[in-house]
Amino acid sequence: ATPTMPVRFKVNGEKRELTLDPRTTLLDALREHLHLTGTKKGCDHGQCGACTVMVDGVRINSCLSLAVMHEGDEITTIEGLGTPDKLHPMQAAFIKHDGYQCGYCTPGQICSAVAVLDEIKRGVPSHAQSNLMTKPTATNVEMRERMSGNICRCGAYSNIAEAMAEVAGAKT
Ligand code: FES
Ligand code: FES
Repeated sequence: ATPTMPVRFKVNGEKRELTLDPRTTLLDALREHLHLTGTKKGCDHGQCGACTVMVDGVRINSCLSLAVMHEGDEITTIEGLGTPDKLHPMQAAFIKHDGYQCGYCTPGQICSAVAVLDEIKRGVPSHAQSNLMTKPTATNVEMRERMSGNICRCGAYSNIAEAMAEVAGAKT
């Protein structure tokens, strides 16, 4: 039998305990073991962003991370951001601005978008930023650069940018 390992973390505010094959990714733990299927599996190789979730407020590609590495962490998935009757402002803005077509990339886009606005607010430099002394602002270019790891095969990019601009309170 494959050896298993216990892991305890909080998912969307709820304490969860799992016993897993240590090779299980956080993505598979969420989808297969906790049945939180809002988080999508696109490439399973860190290339598409469909699996983006937040760990202690910071976005990660959950397909690239082993679940057992998240002992004690607080994980937020799309299911934890809002509910159909109480949408997160970013979810509402995606609907208003048609920020999706097929919707497959959307949970990852929304988790990433929420985390990106927070990164900008906290002054976290992006990889493309050359002058680390300059505080980033929520411009279209800045937001698109930071969202570049979230691929949308339907090409909803400009609508996603509009939704983010609205939440950021920026002019488009
Ligand atoms: Fe994780 Fe594509 S499924 S980046
Ligand atoms: Fe279809 Fe983005 S809405 S992949």
